[in-house]
Amino acid sequence: MVGLLALAFLIVGVATEATLVRALYSRVDDQLTAAAARVPRGLDRLPPLSPREPRFPPGQVIGTLAAHLRYGQVVYAGVLPEQGQTPPDLGGQEATLLSVPADAVPRSYDLGELGDYRLVARRMPDGDVFVTGLPLAETRETLYLVALVVAGVTVLALAGVGYLGVVIVRRTLRPLSRVAATATRVSQLRLDRGEVELPQRVAERDADDRTEVGQVGAALNRMLDHVGNALQVRQASETQVRQFVADASHELRTPLAAIRGYAEVSRRGGQPVPPEVAHVLRRVESEAERMTALVEDMLLLARLDAGRPLAHDQVDLSMLTVDAVSDAHAAGPRHDWQLDLPEEPVVVVGDSARLQQVLANLLGNARTHTPEGTRVTVGVGVSGREAVLRVVDNGPGIPAELLPHVFERFARGDSSRSRAAGSTGLGLAIVHAVVAAQGGSVAVESAPGRTIFTVRLPASTHRAAEL
Ligand SMILES: Nc1ncnc2c1ncn2[C@@H]1O[C@H](COP(=O)(O)OP(=O)(O)O)[C@@H](O)[C@H]1O
Ligand SMILES: [Mg+2]
Repeated sequence: MVGLLALAFLIVGVATEATLVRALYSRVDDQLTAAAARVPRGLDRLPPLSPREPRFPPGQVIGTLAAHLRYGQVVYAGVLPEQGQTPPDLGGQEATLLSVPADAVPRSYDLGELGDYRLVARRMPDGDVFVTGLPLAETRETLYLVALVVAGVTVLALAGVGYLGVVIVRRTLRPLSRVAATATRVSQLRLDRGEVELPQRVAERDADDRTEVGQVGAALNRMLDHVGNALQVRQASETQVRQFVADASHELRTPLAAIRGYAEVSRRGGQPVPPEVAHVLRRVESEAERMTALVEDMLLLARLDAGRPLAHDQVDLSMLTVDAVSDAHAAGPRHDWQLDLPEEPVVVVGDSARLQQVLANLLGNARTHTPEGTRVTVGVGVSGREAVLRVVDNGPGIPAELLPHVFERFARGDSSRSRAAGSTGLGLAIVHAVVAAQGGSVAVESAPGRTIFTVRLPASTHRAAEL
């Protein structure tokens, strides 16, 4: 804006100055023509003078120059002085006076000490040339003054406009900063999980449809309404699905327990059963067990998804690990179980039962997805403010194509061994969900002969001895 304004001022200034130059020079030229016209007529009526004395016909203004040239010689030359002052010396200017073309056209000349003059030369019928001149000093002064005033006013006006412009633009754009601040606050909300609420809105005064900024604010508000509604609908349908899974799993528990019970009763009943029937009953029983495990896992996952709060107890991870390894040893005595615990017990904040499940799932995997004789090392330690649990085995490892998805639900390798072992594909998904719900993380590295699961949990600030 300031640049455009400067350009506008420049154009106005140049146009003013150019017009003024034309107007003032043409006025001087008119006066000069009039003065020059008086010379020959006026001369007749003047008394004779000495040859070198300038003569001025009546009516000439102060500062008028008059020169009489004859045969390329200056007969006389002089300037009309102020009353009582000595006339200035024109001695050095004869060459200039002689160079003026005698065509009655006014031109500008530099007359040294006298300054700039507008000169006109006219040839008389007798061949004599009369040069008449008027000083340009006043005209020049006026032009300089106008230029100076225009430049000064321009600078002041630009400074003023620049300052006011900044103030006005800042003030008018302030609502936009508020709209931007609202958008920033929304961008910092967690919208990806749980109960979603979008309480942020642009204030009413910044959402006025009559201004551009208000339109942006109003559009943002409409968008937030829309997104808020969509999130609520999504949240509602998600909750519904979760609730359904949880209810279904829960409802399945009872009939499954009944099936297991009846199968067991018939197998153990006193009456002799044909061997095929006994086999079928054993299969019914084991499949019912498998299904119970699956249903329990699904129920747990559905509850974790629903964000059901976990306990925040001080849990001695070392103790929990010792128990879990001892259970694993009982279930898989042909594996080589190793414990690696620090002197000081490691304490974490969390839900003891769920952490127990994490350990059971990891150790169960190390047992069921590896051949007998595999060495499994379970280590617990502290690193900074985190407790670290490591389960390392030297089994065949997780298939490379499964590895990136291993924490996803129902992701499992389908070796016949793991199927027989009652594989559900939910074990590691539960580990992941539990650890995440307790503010921790779980990672896996696997290669044939070396599979490492690393669980990090926030360590308790209390020491075990204080429990
Ligand atoms: N220690 C391990 N060694 C080899 N494979 C493993 C190990 N742990 C997990 N896996 C692979 O990851 C898959 C997913 O494990 P998980 O989620 O616990 O399901 P599940 O054990 O019910 O199959 C398993 O099916 C198995 O193929
Ligand atoms: Mg498992």
